[in-house]
Amino acid sequence: MKLQKIGVLTSGGDAPGMNAAIRSVVRTAIFNNIEVVGIKRGYNGLLNSDIIPLNIRDVSDIIHRGGTSLFTARCLEFKTEEGINKVVENLKANNIDGLVVIGGDGTFRGARDLSKRGIKCVGIPATIDNDIGCSDYTIGFDTALNTAMEMIDKLRDTAQSHDRCTVVEVMGHRAGYIALETGIACGATFIIVPEIPNINNNDIVNKIKEIQQTGKKHFIIVVGEGYGKTNELAQYISEKTSLETRVAVLGHVQRGGSPSVRDRVTATEMGNIAVKLLMNEEKSKVVVEKNGKITSMDIETALDTPKQFNIELYNIEQQVSL
Ligand code: F6P
Repeated sequence: MKLQKIGVLTSGGDAPGMNAAIRSVVRTAIFNNIEVVGIKRGYNGLLNSDIIPLNIRDVSDIIHRGGTSLFTARCLEFKTEEGINKVVENLKANNIDGLVVIGGDGTFRGARDLSKRGIKCVGIPATIDNDIGCSDYTIGFDTALNTAMEMIDKLRDTAQSHDRCTVVEVMGHRAGYIALETGIACGATFIIVPEIPNINNNDIVNKIKEIQQTGKKHFIIVVGEGYGKTNELAQYISEKTSLETRVAVLGHVQRGGSPSVRDRVTATEMGNIAVKLLMNEEKSKVVVEKNGKITSMDIETALDTPKQFNIELYNIEQQVSL
């Protein structure tokens, strides 16, 4: 049976580029004579039937905006059997025959549960953390990297003026991808990521002391939040070296802002492919980027795919942060 009506939602932490993905889903659907509705606040909107019709003009003027015009939330009730059944009932009552869900792993787990109950679902990876195993890239990562890089550059100006050490904590949840790439882009002396846990504070202090011998007087250390001991490390550096040390936690500012070209284009491509997958009667897919190409993968396989840490990039950093 021809697809008549689809729903789109954003769930989990927001990411710059989600709006560009929503716009692409809505316009691709309408272009192909499919009705589209927006579901507000992730799976909550399906529990409460907080659903709005979306037309071409409803998604005007959002491609350049951060955040998500459909709002987002993490929904605990949806994780229960009762919650899932209620969502299935509401989807049927609203005649929604397919769903595009934009978010991270948690969002895809929800889609998998719905697809097991016969609802056609397609996921689009969007999180600043870039921590989804199935896709080389997640919408929002590039913008977050650039936001963090600009802030770290500013911190470097003041660290340099005062001959200080600044320990910068970036987001990333349990993954160190934001730390790795911003650390490299900002010439950090040390990058600390949860994926390389066997680094101790002494290793860092020893490296600082070694580099001090070459005449360097200010230091930037980038720490992924998943490491969990940023303040302790800063305290240790100030105790064991002659350096005055400051901590900067960049926080949620990394989640906001106008999406970069990379995020707008990827979101547009992924949104378009997501609708086409539903049109092709696909029941349970995630759109992914693999080796520079946008393609798709079964949700179950996608959820089972571990993320590979880019150890080569980390090793390069070890050779150039001198
Ligand atoms: O997943 C995106 C992210 O920003 C993580 O980097 C961070 O750990 C988490 O979300 C913060 O979540 P919240 O917005 O609930 O504080």
